[in-house]
Amino acid sequence: MVNTTLPYGDTLDAILSVLPAKLQKPRVGFVCGSGLGGLVDSFREVQIIPYDTLPGFAKSTVPGHKSALAFGLLGAGVGVPVVAMLGRFHSYEGHTFPTVVYPIRIMARLGIKDIIITNAAGSLNPSIAIGTIVIIQDHLALPTLTGMNPLLGPQTSPNHPRFLPLSDAYSTSLRRLAFIASHQLSLDKDALAEGVYAWVSGPTYETAVEGRFLRNAGADVVGMSTVPEVLAAREEGLNVMVMSLVTNFVVIPKEPRRIKEEVEAELAGRPVTLPVAQVVSHEDVLEVGRDKANVMKQLVERIVDLISS
Ligand code: 6GU
Repeated sequence: MVNTTLPYGDTLDAILSVLPAKLQKPRVGFVCGSGLGGLVDSFREVQIIPYDTLPGFAKSTVPGHKSALAFGLLGAGVGVPVVAMLGRFHSYEGHTFPTVVYPIRIMARLGIKDIIITNAAGSLNPSIAIGTIVIIQDHLALPTLTGMNPLLGPQTSPNHPRFLPLSDAYSTSLRRLAFIASHQLSLDKDALAEGVYAWVSGPTYETAVEGRFLRNAGADVVGMSTVPEVLAAREEGLNVMVMSLVTNFVVIPKEPRRIKEEVEAELAGRPVTLPVAQVVSHEDVLEVGRDKANVMKQLVERIVDLISS
């Protein structure tokens, strides 16, 4: 069964009717996560199209996220036509998966070949510090393994494979370009790392045990977005690169607090030292995004130059 009810034609008409010819065939697409929408400052001849003017698009509701497509030219010389999602849709906001990935399918129909997806993520790996940009090599998606696969349901095109392979989801050639770009820009050796992204549904952050579980299962960073977009992008035949900006460490205490022992010690008059509780805040996440936005911007611009050369 193929579901052909999506309003692709109307959305494409709405976009193309307001774009000058030279922006109508973007070559590279971007998804800009928390605080990373500043990429658009490097676009030339920029055209912004708010999501609420586009059939099939929802409105993103997370603070720090905008709600528009940005078209422009990026990189050296005349530049490459590109399109960026400023703000994305998450399933935790209550959007269905087809809505979450609809903009990806639209960008694919506009003709992009490569997509660079960014997000803010928590580090599970003690050697991946806050502020590091992690080039994602693979993902661990418990929701897809347990019945919440974003691609469940009728196919949206007869051209899509029913059983999409994911062993090669993250383009090795795009990942190479990220490290070459980092070298060309003389970024610090620790500015970029590579690692595995764990996708959780959110909107809650992990418990301590869940964090330890994801780490033990092989993940380096964790976040609440991106994987649905990667799956749709791969289904559409796009080359995918994901860059996660580490905004905080996931709180994984080595030892849980043992209240039973604390109370026993207290009652026996023995001294007790209490560990300091730590929690993650969305404000911290946005702040690191603002700090690193510039590095991310330079990197992405250079990667686009390398793609087009
Ligand atoms: Cl610690 N967890 C999740 N699930 N997403 C995040 C995060 C943590 N930090 C930024 N995004």
